[in-house]
Amino acid sequence: GMNSVFTAEKDILGMREAGRLASEVLDHVAPHVKAGVSTGELDRICHEYMRDVQKTIPAPLNYQPPGYPPFPKSICTSVNDVICHGIPSDRILKSGDIVNLDITVITEDGFYGDTSRMFLIGEPSILAKRLCQITYECMWLGIAVVKPGARLGDIGFAIQNHAEKAGYSIVREYCGHGIGKVFHQDPQILHYGRQGQGEELLEGMTFTIEPMINAGRRDIRTMPDMWTVKTKDRSLSAQWEHTVLVTATGVEVLTKSDRSPPIPEIVVNKFNVI
Ligand code: MF3
Ligand code: CO
Ligand code: CO
Repeated sequence: GMNSVFTAEKDILGMREAGRLASEVLDHVAPHVKAGVSTGELDRICHEYMRDVQKTIPAPLNYQPPGYPPFPKSICTSVNDVICHGIPSDRILKSGDIVNLDITVITEDGFYGDTSRMFLIGEPSILAKRLCQITYECMWLGIAVVKPGARLGDIGFAIQNHAEKAGYSIVREYCGHGIGKVFHQDPQILHYGRQGQGEELLEGMTFTIEPMINAGRRDIRTMPDMWTVKTKDRSLSAQWEHTVLVTATGVEVLTKSDRSPPIPEIVVNKFNVI
């Protein structure tokens, strides 16, 4: 598919708006993400906020890449050993669960914003907390190397290095992606790689960084619903996602909001983030 390099100011503004709105859906649903709520209820809350308040369209709803059935809900809810693309259902969240909520909106002008966060329910284990924290750091370490002239492999390397030092594994079957007026487009943003390898980053590119990190082995298993992806060894998996813009001097994180968690300590002052 086509590569997303935006040069027109109206496109940058459109992507900024899409990113902000996606992030605001997470801000809106966050207080509801607690023990006793079903993932289907979280889907309903997000869907109604997008439709009635934002006037955005939930990109996942009826999304159907080649070889897939249409995705039946408006957000993805991936609990514990679910790596990604969990389908909201009557499953009730309980203390100790970790859940990823992944939101993609389409604005009235046709721009996509894509972002996800982990939520810890009640009292999660030390391991679960550490996995979520390391994965968050991985995403931000990847973001931190983004600037014109850097390579895609620099992003993958930063993420892989941090995850593997912590004893975790990186899911390879799914990756970040170019995004713009299309949901998924080139380039693919691998969450592993080698420094100096891969495509060069250009000012105006917009793409996601969304590492999926497993506490155990990297192998995956897709459920009969054709969407839900789990760890084969049933170990916990975590994911965070931001949509970013390559600026003249570095990176602008388009899906950061006032209520996004702060930039991790190990990343602060490493780079020129807006
Ligand atoms: N939001 C996911 C991503 O980050 C894609 C979800 S596709 C769906 O790319 F159909 F499962 F919703
Ligand atoms: Co997403
Ligand atoms: Co994405």
